Amino acid sequence: MARNKFDIDETLETPFDIKHLKRSFIYIKKHTKKMVAALLLSALGVVISLFGPILVQRGVDVAVPNKDIAQVVLLSAIFLGTIVINVIFITIRSKLMVEVGQDIVYDIRKDLFNHLQELPFKYYDDRPHGKIMVRIVNYVNNVSDLLSNGIINFVLELFNIIFILIFMFSVSVKLSLVVLAGLPVFMVVIFLIKNFQRKAWQQVSNKSSNMNAYLHESINGIRVTQIFTREEQNAGIFARLSGNYRKAWLKATFISQCVWYSVDNIATIISALIYIVGMMYMAPEVSFGVILAMSGYASRFWQPIMNLSNLYNNFINTIAYLERIFEAMDEPVTITDAADAYELPKIEGQITFDHVTFAYEPGKNILEDVSFTAQPGESIALVGPTGAGKTTIVNLISRFYDVDGGAVLIDGNDVSRVTLHSLRSQMGIMLQDSFIFSGTLLENIKYGKLDATDEEVRIACQTVCADEFIEEMEKGYDTEVNERGSRLSQGQKQLIAFARTLLCDPKVLILDEATSSIDAKTERLLQKGLQELLKGRTSFIIAHRLSTIMHCDKIMYISNKGITECGTHEELMAKRGDYYHLYTSQLQEA
Ligand SMILES: Nc1ncnc2c1ncn2[C@@H]1O[C@H](COP(=O)(O)OP(=O)(O)OP(=O)(O)O)[C@@H](O)[C@H]1O
Ligand SMILES: [Mg+2]
Repeated sequence: MARNKFDIDETLETPFDIKHLKRSFIYIKKHTKKMVAALLLSALGVVISLFGPILVQRGVDVAVPNKDIAQVVLLSAIFLGTIVINVIFITIRSKLMVEVGQDIVYDIRKDLFNHLQELPFKYYDDRPHGKIMVRIVNYVNNVSDLLSNGIINFVLELFNIIFILIFMFSVSVKLSLVVLAGLPVFMVVIFLIKNFQRKAWQQVSNKSSNMNAYLHESINGIRVTQIFTREEQNAGIFARLSGNYRKAWLKATFISQCVWYSVDNIATIISALIYIVGMMYMAPEVSFGVILAMSGYASRFWQPIMNLSNLYNNFINTIAYLERIFEAMDEPVTITDAADAYELPKIEGQITFDHVTFAYEPGKNILEDVSFTAQPGESIALVGPTGAGKTTIVNLISRFYDVDGGAVLIDGNDVSRVTLHSLRSQMGIMLQDSFIFSGTLLENIKYGKLDATDEEVRIACQTVCADEFIEEMEKGYDTEVNERGSRLSQGQKQLIAFARTLLCDPKVLILDEATSSIDAKTERLLQKGLQELLKGRTSFIIAHRLSTIMHCDKIMYISNKGITECGTHEELMAKRGDYYHLYTSQLQEA
């Protein structure tokens, strides 16, 4: 089966770049107190627990041969005490660090989400939304552990190694050297296999992200899938993506197990060596208790080294995740307030396109040198063939994209000079596909004006003839709908979106195919209410159904060449141009 964009892995092995780690200190810094406390607790715990093997040695070498029961009991009690204290310290430390980890996740996620909300339409035009989600959910999860525990553990493991060495050498220098002899073998094994291990886990992360992205899209597109009975092919694609994940996972766990076995075996061999060397060659010189203590330290010696190598690998992965996260955070908000942006004063309603040129992709102009002016209170209809650029024109008025040439002016204010908030909050825009959020109908209608009263909502709904069907629903305005408004017909969704737009009482109203799914009778009723409502507002109405736009003050015919005709219905009919042909062909169909 052909590979698709979901098969493309993200690069997770990036050249080591300390700047990402440095930057992550912004998130770590404010938890310094908790982290220092956790570190101190852990360090104390380490030292206390290291007394264990010495206690064993004393017991075996001194107390037991002397049959000193009291001392055995005392030593055991102290041993038990060290364990209990250690457990208490570990518990407190874990609690502290879980809090720090989750705080870091929370902060990064918040910043990332807030940034994503500001990114222009263009960002979302260009990439699978599932992969954006993976960054917020998975990647952030993945970095939290290293940023919280990782740093502490790093210090702690170094500390651990130093202390184990001190304790070991204080017990027996020669046997300590035996333990150290195993170190080179150990390091080679670890760093060789670990490299494989890291790459294998990166693959797991990649495959999981590919699978999630596809899953996300499939759920969104499930209706189309079933309409075109694409289930089988999609199952194939999913099986492949999920199979890749399974393969990657199996490989990674296999390698991880190999690491454990090698480490385990090396550690066992070294322990055996301690016994052999100790008993055979150093016999009277070192006691049995010393040998026992040394094998205890030896087995503890490998753990921190293992942990350090784990940390090293996590660290490399985390840097890559951080890079992906910061990359999204650094994605320039190209559409943003200019440095000297000012508040757009209350809109009168004059809208001018002054020689506007615009392209979504460089070199492919959709609008070229387009000029027109809408006077305050005028209603302007945009008609023309599919793909001509009608939606594009209205997107430019609210500055969802920046023009490449010329300017869009509202009451003489260039939209790129005023603050986005002051601009968009005065606009009522109804998009071609009206998105309904999960929640009640009331919440959906109040989406843009949270403080609207129920009365205001009802009036808005009456104006757009939505109140009738809403009242008929089981719970009226409190009826729950899901994301994308399942349970509502297309026309009902449009009516809800319409009410949502009107509620904000915008000075400029933009309706992009706002009534395309509403039946002709309801639309006529709606038109009447709307006529009242449109008074005093400049409005742009895009519609394919000509009855919707006939009564507009001005009709602009948009073709691929720009605005080719402009005038009232009567004027354009008299002209017998494109509009005339469009109108007569629709009449014939009717
Ligand atoms: N996000 C985008 N990225 C790249 N090209 C785009 C994008 N959106 C639209 N286009 C292109 O720009 C042109 C104009 O699109 P636009 O949506 O303005 O058409 P329209 O007149 O509103 O059509 P319709 O009547 O079908 O809604 C089309 O050729 C389309 O392919
Ligand atoms: Mg359109």
